[in-house]
Amino acid sequence: MRQKFNKLATKSFFDEKNTYLKPEILSINKEKCILEIGSGKGKFITEFALKYPNVTFVAVEMNRHVAYHILKKVKEKNISNLHLIVDSAKNLIYYLNEKTVSSIYLNFSDPWPKKKHHKRRLTHPNYLKIYKTILKRNGKIFFRTDQKEFYFDSSLYLQSYFEKISYNQNSLSLPIISEYELKKRKLGPIYSIEAEGINE
Ligand SMILES: C[S@@+](CC[C@H](N)C(=O)[O-])C[C@H]1O[C@@H](n2cnc3c(N)ncnc32)[C@H](O)[C@@H]1O
Repeated sequence: MRQKFNKLATKSFFDEKNTYLKPEILSINKEKCILEIGSGKGKFITEFALKYPNVTFVAVEMNRHVAYHILKKVKEKNISNLHLIVDSAKNLIYYLNEKTVSSIYLNFSDPWPKKKHHKRRLTHPNYLKIYKTILKRNGKIFFRTDQKEFYFDSSLYLQSYFEKISYNQNSLSLPIISEYELKKRKLGPIYSIEAEGINE
């Protein structure tokens, strides 16, 4: 997502409870913890958090100028069960204890079509190794994209890490829908993968 410089995304704007610009272990005191990585402007995760106040949500967005919009929504809607990490997913082990996360949502992650950039994909094995550390044993990954090749490659990556996988090449809309899905759904099919149960 290309995002212009946002002069309002200052360090002091992010100086809030439950908001992290540098590594610190989060205290997750609820049984269920749901993570979204690459949250963009946060439509999906903020609506999810409002709907389930007894669940802890964590939004991970490495672009501060984009993450600004997540925190803006959190402040405006007074959402208290959502943590915001403004950092790359590659540093997640410095924020989350092992086996604390119930589910990870990857909504319309950047597809990085060129082979030399595949390592940057949020479903690449380099990231799956990190997710394996923080996910609970029966943890799940929910992946959605409009990019067919990214979907097929991701299904291969996920296969060797999870016991149960389901695939869908024409996913219906969910009750909560991300900003990207709102746009992409009008243009063609949405592909999704659900993976569950980490292979130890
Ligand atoms: C294409 S946008 C999708 C936004 C949102 N999930 C949606 O569906 O509307 C992808 C977002 O992932 C973020 N991102 C990409 N790589 C990331 C990483 N390694 N860690 C955290 N965020 C990342 C980008 O900054 C961008 O905002």
